[in-house]
Amino acid sequence: MPPTFNAKARGASRILGTGRYVPERVLTNKDLEKIVDTSDEWITARTGMKRRHVVSEGEYTSDLAAAALKDAAEDAGLELSDLDAIIVATATSDMIFPSAACLVQQHLDLGGIAAFDIGAACSGFIYGTTMANSLIASGQFGTIGVIGAETLTRITNYEDRSTCVLFGDGAGAVICVPGNGKQGVMAAYLGADGNLSHLLNMPAGGTRLPASYETVDNRLHSIHMEGAEVFKSAVRAMESSAVKALELADITPEDVDLLITHQANIRIIKATASRVHIPPEKVYINVHEYGNTSAASIPIALDEARKGGLISEGTTVMMVAFGGGFTWGSLVVSF
Ligand code: ACO
Repeated sequence: MPPTFNAKARGASRILGTGRYVPERVLTNKDLEKIVDTSDEWITARTGMKRRHVVSEGEYTSDLAAAALKDAAEDAGLELSDLDAIIVATATSDMIFPSAACLVQQHLDLGGIAAFDIGAACSGFIYGTTMANSLIASGQFGTIGVIGAETLTRITNYEDRSTCVLFGDGAGAVICVPGNGKQGVMAAYLGADGNLSHLLNMPAGGTRLPASYETVDNRLHSIHMEGAEVFKSAVRAMESSAVKALELADITPEDVDLLITHQANIRIIKATASRVHIPPEKVYINVHEYGNTSAASIPIALDEARKGGLISEGTTVMMVAFGGGFTWGSLVVSF
């Protein structure tokens, strides 16, 4: 495994505020029964999902991201104008370019500050927050908004029952500021294996396969996934990422107050927690409400957990993600 943590970055930043935004429209398992050959029973048993929030016509990734960032800034007690940079983690930006971060900046009238996207699929929020921590450690920036935002339902094939039941839309955000010696990032770990990119991707729409009649006819502008292979890799990578994070933070599983994993499937979440010896009462689960929202899933869960009273001063939270690429990563943060 490559080196993963720059000791200078330990404690460099802390999370001052969190926020989220999910679309109002809801797609239930019963709704999906009318679209493909599936059942509430199958979806619940195999994934833990019951509902997912879905964008409406005219609602885009950058809208969700901007709303989540506003919520996080308010929670942090800061003005949006206090931000020095915006990082958006997404695999479903409004367009190939400009970045979603630039569109968020436009929405919020924050012209002038740095803005860029991170592409690491479902691990994007862990990548983005690690990047923010390092940028703050370097002294280049002071206050950074990190957002995970997705509209996966826009690239979902509603004729493919093996994928269409899984995905939802939403955004979550955090405000990262310099650490104060007590609260902050205790460990950050990132990894990837591009050799497995074929197991989970959207084949067309980039420069390799630009849109054509053929790509549209062959449904190549939607998510393609080898579910069972992804499942096995997800459990293995999330387990090793969690173990690595504990090691880097120099803590034991007992020291973790709350585990928030990427919400892809309740069986993946439970298997990861059990392998890392974190008991069920310390594991946050909201996959039943949102489905898999990729880069948005961890920050949405983090905000829910915080505002629901599960995170207060002194709480140690471990976050672990896995996604297309393959990518994976983990963070331990003391609040
Ligand atoms: N309803 C009913 N039956 C279904 C459905 C459905 N929606 N989908 C598949 N099936 C059937 C299959 O056709 C298959 O039938 P068969 O045995 O007659 O061939 C059977 O159910 C079992 O299919 P599996 O694919 O083996 O089911 P599995 O238990 O693996 O669950 C799932 C599938 C939920 C997709 C699981 O593999 C999974 O969660 N994979 C990981 C997804 C993930 O973690 N993604 C993370 C990253 S996502 C990102 O980066 C954007």
